[in-house]
Amino acid sequence: MDLAGKVVLVTGANGGIGWALVQELLDRGAAKVYAAARNIQAVAEMAKFDPGRVVALRIDVTHETSVATAAAQCQDVDLVINNAGVNHCKSLLDPDGLDCARQEIKVNYLGTLSMCRAFAPVLAARGGAIANVCSILGLVNLPVNGTYSASKAAGHSLLQGVRAELAPRGVKVYGVYPGPVDTRMTAGQEMSKATPSQVATLILDGIAKDEEYIFPDAMSLDVRKGLLHAPKEVEKQFGAMVP
Ligand SMILES: NC(=O)c1ccc[n+]([C@@H]2O[C@H](COP(=O)([O-])OP(=O)(O)OC[C@H]3O[C@@H](n4cnc5c(N)ncnc54)[C@H](OP(=O)(O)O)[C@@H]3O)[C@@H](O)[C@H]2O)c1
Repeated sequence: MDLAGKVVLVTGANGGIGWALVQELLDRGAAKVYAAARNIQAVAEMAKFDPGRVVALRIDVTHETSVATAAAQCQDVDLVINNAGVNHCKSLLDPDGLDCARQEIKVNYLGTLSMCRAFAPVLAARGGAIANVCSILGLVNLPVNGTYSASKAAGHSLLQGVRAELAPRGVKVYGVYPGPVDTRMTAGQEMSKATPSQVATLILDGIAKDEEYIFPDAMSLDVRKGLLHAPKEVEKQFGAMVP
């Protein structure tokens, strides 16, 4: 998809990757970017960055009315980037694991599904596209982030299903699988991380090149290679990182 002149909506736009995506979209000549967040104040501040092209929008992806209202309001959207997400960094057997799993499924899976359902008619009418920010952890479980990994695995399956359902209606669906990125989500975790702007650049490069699966950093590319050639080895390597 050629992004110049397009109208794009980014959820979780006040987060690390979300805000980097908004900036990169503006650099690539997007006509308008809906910067969506549940905290409207945060994105209203950001809209001042380019008031002619950035429109602050309230979306809590877990509230169906909030999502439906946004879809009714944004009938000119060509690309929806479902970027909103949470990671409680809990293992599956952690005492708080069940509550965290519910919350992560609510945002990462059901919230993304709700967005895809609400915006499908708009995107079908415009020959548009959806990009879902999944995670490399949706392809292999990291036990210290066990509940999050499972929610992102649900997101991966959702992506494939929605892609199949929307293809006959002319809507492309891109899947994005980052490794560790230096944002609030990974704050305090010591490891090598890509920057949000590096990742945003490669996500939009992938969309511009019509790549169905986008691995936007060195670590995710590495893991993907491992999963193709030696999946059990990758599972063992990640499985060794138990809490
Ligand atoms: N950072 C990484 O290492 C990494 C790796 C792979 C994939 N990802 C994925 O990348 C995406 C962006 O994450 P990030 O790293 O940029 O983290 P971040 O800075 O924590 O941003 C997450 C964003 O999601 C928003 N959000 C959470 N719950 C929401 C809800 N119910 N409705 C609407 N927005 C909601 C947050 O808004 P609030 O400010 O209101 O909480 C925030 O804007 C996520 O889907 C994440 O899973 C991140």
